[in-house]
Amino acid sequence: MMKLNRGSIFLIAFLLSTLTSLQSSSSSSSEESNIISRFQQYLQIKTNHPTPNYTQSSQFLISLSKSLSLESQTIELVPGKPIIILKWAGTSPELPSIMLYSHTDVVPAEHDKWVHHPFKAHVDDEGRIYARGSQDMKCVSMQYLEAVRILKSWDFQPKRTVYLVFAPDEEIGGHDGAEKFSLSKDFQDLNVGIVLDEGLASPDEHYRAFYAERSPWWLVIKAVGAPGHGSKLYDNSAMENLLKSIESIRRFRASQFDLIKAGLKAEGDVVSINMAFLKAGTPSPTGFVMNLQPSEAEAGFDIRVPPTADAESLERRIAEEWAPSCRNMSFRLGQFKQKLSVLDASGKPVITKTDSSNPWWALLENAVQESGGKLGKPEIFPASTDARYFRRVGLPAIGFSPMANTPILLHDHNEYLHKDEYLKGIKVYESIIKAYASFDERVKDGTSKDEL
Ligand SMILES: *[C@@H]1O[C@H](CO)[C@@H](O)[C@H](O)[C@H]1NC(C)=O
Ligand SMILES: *[C@@H]1O[C@H](CO)[C@@H](O)[C@H](O)[C@H]1NC(C)=O
Ligand SMILES: [Zn+2]
Repeated sequence: MMKLNRGSIFLIAFLLSTLTSLQSSSSSSSEESNIISRFQQYLQIKTNHPTPNYTQSSQFLISLSKSLSLESQTIELVPGKPIIILKWAGTSPELPSIMLYSHTDVVPAEHDKWVHHPFKAHVDDEGRIYARGSQDMKCVSMQYLEAVRILKSWDFQPKRTVYLVFAPDEEIGGHDGAEKFSLSKDFQDLNVGIVLDEGLASPDEHYRAFYAERSPWWLVIKAVGAPGHGSKLYDNSAMENLLKSIESIRRFRASQFDLIKAGLKAEGDVVSINMAFLKAGTPSPTGFVMNLQPSEAEAGFDIRVPPTADAESLERRIAEEWAPSCRNMSFRLGQFKQKLSVLDASGKPVITKTDSSNPWWALLENAVQESGGKLGKPEIFPASTDARYFRRVGLPAIGFSPMANTPILLHDHNEYLHKDEYLKGIKVYESIIKAYASFDERVKDGTSKDEL
């Protein structure tokens, strides 16, 4: 046997440890590149409106579910609009299940305004993955699946059944997707206890989580008045009547915006109102007739109302200040059904509780923290998501997309997600799914069944 002195022992130990670390880093980096490559493949599928290829996205998701030995089921509540349900059976199937929900469609992209093609999923030198859907919300769909893959590799056994549900058409209102699904027997059969759906990226280090959302009211106001010569000053023309309303709406808009600017309220907590169109004038072959004051004028507004706002007083404001009949004005509220949909059967706003009455909230907070992430204050989602349909049938639903340190680029040109944020998000879901799937309120805090 060779005689070894201290120095050579150190040298051998050093070489061995270098070898081992090289090996493990090369296997983890190849695993990492597989994870990114699966994300890219999903991003490359053109599920953009107006002609999303749901056939291809379904095939892809089902092939992934096979590689994870998950049971899969495809239902079509509307032909050509598949909903994919993947099941990871729990050991206590009588407990309400966990639904990890995502939509498969994306909004269109103007290719020529992007630095990298929106369906190539190019990773740039910095590690940014450019693609339509990289934030909204193909990231979340794939992160759910990757987290399940990792938990399975540890032989983790969920107590509750975990469903991964991928649905179409969110970007066009979700009527043929989440809305019909939430009311279906197929959904009831899943016995869901908690829904996770999408949130928004966060430019700072805190992840954002949403417990409710604003509902859209699409308001069109119309004024009529006596027509007249363009040179004449007179009261009560249609344009004058409309402008008075627009001035009043602008003051209201500023008052709400000031609350955000002053840091007193978050975006989702105020009523937003933005003018979407103005329609007036008498067309002529060269543009508009200029020496005529028209007898009709119309304007349209996108209003977003948080569930915490006083909807009745807003309706009164519309009827009395923005479109008063005494000023020869009338109004239409489109999407009005949506307004009702944020109220539950007893007329209370539909929100998911974020206090101790909802254990899923605390579990999420803890799980995020345990994975090394930070969670901001719960917020009202400023726009709409499919989560509203599940809240409407009485379920808690949390909007959450783990993207910190990321500019908000959903629906924007050059939507991207950094690969490190994407990978971190998988860790966050590992932690959340583990906590959710293990949660059993029948077991008292701090005492496991084994100890009883
Ligand atoms: C959609 O995807 C399927 C399956 O990958 C493919 O055969 C088909 O050509 C695609 N349809 C369109 C319109 O691109
Ligand atoms: C409303 O319309 C009527 C009929 O055109 C007109 O006589 C009246 O002055 C208008 N009033 C206002 C406030 O515009
Ligand atoms: Zn979305």
